[in-house]
Amino acid sequence: MSAPLAPPMGLIAELTHRCPLQCAYCANPVEMVRPAQELTTQEWFDVIDQAAKIGVLQLHLTGGEPMARRDLVEIVARAAQRGLYTNLITSGVLLDDKAMAALLEAGIDHIQLSFQEAEPVMGDHFGGYRGGHAKKLEAARRIREAGLSLTTNFVLHRQNIASLPAMLALGEELGSDRIEIAHTQYYGWALRNRDALLPTREELETATALVEAARARLGSRIAIDYVVPDYHASQPKACMGGWGNRFLHLLPSGEVLPCHAAQTIPGLRFASVREVSLAEIWRADPAFNRFRGTDWMPAPCRSCDQREIDWGGCRCQALLLAGDAAATDPVCARAPDHGVIETILAARPEEPPALIPRRL
Ligand code: SF4
Ligand code: FES
Repeated sequence: MSAPLAPPMGLIAELTHRCPLQCAYCANPVEMVRPAQELTTQEWFDVIDQAAKIGVLQLHLTGGEPMARRDLVEIVARAAQRGLYTNLITSGVLLDDKAMAALLEAGIDHIQLSFQEAEPVMGDHFGGYRGGHAKKLEAARRIREAGLSLTTNFVLHRQNIASLPAMLALGEELGSDRIEIAHTQYYGWALRNRDALLPTREELETATALVEAARARLGSRIAIDYVVPDYHASQPKACMGGWGNRFLHLLPSGEVLPCHAAQTIPGLRFASVREVSLAEIWRADPAFNRFRGTDWMPAPCRSCDQREIDWGGCRCQALLLAGDAAATDPVCARAPDHGVIETILAARPEEPPALIPRRL
């Protein structure tokens, strides 16, 4: 018998898929939500009220670029009034003085600022936005001057991995409380660019050693989060902390998913907050219950001592790599389909193909 269902810890709100940047490693789906389909301000207020009522603690505002929503400040204010911890995940290119002051007044708790590189030429190249890097530096300064804690985020891939020391130095120089070094994860748009982005195992090992050295040097002064590329791991990540276990993920159009890529799984239908309450979705939605807990697991997960640690890995990745969302994540060294990872790594071209920029 499974334990009683705890409330979701966090709600990840993709407010919009609009974004001024065009990162090739974007995890947004290839079929993005059009502006006309987005939830209205009032609908977001209702979602926030429901989330607070069912015990959600954190609201992660993301996109696309969440600052492309004109009502972002009102949404933050509503969440703050309802006692939710608000985390804005932004590229920073729209975070001018006026926006910073308004967000502060609305009660924003934390901002995570993403960078594409440590310097402007390649940063603007990877982001597809001229002048973007300079705007990000300004945004970081504003966040610190506002007295907010700052997380700087750098997404690593084969074309920028050599800049990791400079990225760590930039994160430190900007006064980050936390630096997130995240290798690209291959879903959505990023999957299209996998050959252009996937590093070698040697490159990964060098990066990991650099991160470890930085952690030892910085101690408790700056925390470093490090996300390794799945394809070079031997144990899968506990994707979303387990399916239907900790998070609700809302699309801009109101569909509620257990993870950002869940729509790729055939046979699952996702309810919308336009039709069903969040409480009902969390408790009883068949899509949420499909891979919740351990009852659904195949061998070898079913009898594995890690099954309540990694929850069998990522369902969307199992679908992509093994052709079956109910399979053990092939990233796992014990998975029957683990060989597929070696095949992908062996087929990685020496010269990276051209990046396909993300576009709505
Ligand atoms: Fe995790 Fe399943 Fe691999 Fe065990 S067999 S480590 S539960 S993915
Ligand atoms: Fe869907 Fe991992 S991205 S379960």
